[in-house]
Amino acid sequence: MKLLKRVNLQPLNTMAVPSVAEHFVRAGSLDEVKEALLWAKNNVQPLHILGGGSNCLLPENISGLVLQPILRGVKLLESNERHYLVKVAAGENWNRFVHHCLSKGYFGLENLALIPGLVGAAPIQNIGAYGVELCDLFHSLEALEISTGTLRRFEKDECEFAYRHSVFKGRLSKQFIITSVTFRLFKHPELNVTYPALRAALAGIPRKAISPQIVAHTVMEIRRSKLPSPELLPNVGSFFKNPVVDMETIEHMEQLYPDLVSYEVDANHKKIPAGWLIEKAGWKGREEFNVKVHDQQALVIVNPNKMPVTKVLRLAKAIQANIKARFGIDLEQEPQLLL
Ligand code: EPU
Repeated sequence: MKLLKRVNLQPLNTMAVPSVAEHFVRAGSLDEVKEALLWAKNNVQPLHILGGGSNCLLPENISGLVLQPILRGVKLLESNERHYLVKVAAGENWNRFVHHCLSKGYFGLENLALIPGLVGAAPIQNIGAYGVELCDLFHSLEALEISTGTLRRFEKDECEFAYRHSVFKGRLSKQFIITSVTFRLFKHPELNVTYPALRAALAGIPRKAISPQIVAHTVMEIRRSKLPSPELLPNVGSFFKNPVVDMETIEHMEQLYPDLVSYEVDANHKKIPAGWLIEKAGWKGREEFNVKVHDQQALVIVNPNKMPVTKVLRLAKAIQANIKARFGIDLEQEPQLLL
């Protein structure tokens, strides 16, 4: 294990906020992760886990130890008539894993192409895009319990997956380090092209000609047209969750705004795109505190001047207060603050 002191984490977070870790370890094996846990237990507190840095917000100074597990490897565990069970280590790049599966003929992850970050972080917020969520293809995962250093397996029903949520963000937050994830993928494509933007982009192609590769390619094109590339314009993707509201609120909103966009969640609830609310309130493209709401997608806050997290949070809070005052709706922040 190589222990580093006062490490600059600005290149390791896609929001590019300035941040210095008091202690930092990059662990390439399970043994190294365990060694770092033990070292932290005996020497410094608190312990923070960093993945790909694409869905977190870092303070300017982080005391204790920042541990970045970079475990690698993909393994086909099992195959039957309909499915493959594929186990992937937490430190693999998510998008590369999606493309690896496509090239091997393991289908199902195509709608989740080009999502930044590492595999290990994906179940924590149950990543989702274009009509598919990670939990749709999830089989199980392995995670190290931080307090004991023992490896535990979690089945799907134990992960309490919901929209951008899991037990690892809720009840068991900061108690486990995910070390590998196993997916149950399809042998024969079972495409999901119902998401409006995806359906529209594929409209010119006959249904039978649409392959998982075409779906992945189209998803990537849509993402590139709306979502800023973190290398060019620092960001953490959606800054807020899309709020789920009851039918009474929807009916009231529809009377006021006939152009309201919403998606059904269940018989009594609908989801309103936070981007729609933020744009309607006039924030799209607006710059405050040297931080900006993205020109093409109001759900994304961009940090072109690499300002500290405090500035990013000031803009986020101003947006939340304005949306609450204007529509009576609470916006929940999506990226997690490392504290
Ligand atoms: N919209 C606007 N203005 C905007 C943005 C969106 O009016 O500035 C409206 C449009 O009417 C559009 C609708 O919102 O039709 C939905 O927009 P989009 O398809 O871009 O999706 P989203 O609801 O804004 C969610 C996810 C994204 C994911 C896309 C596609 C959340 C918080 N975000 O965004 O996830 O890529 O759907 O499935 O659920 C992420 O989590 O980082 C992320 C990018």
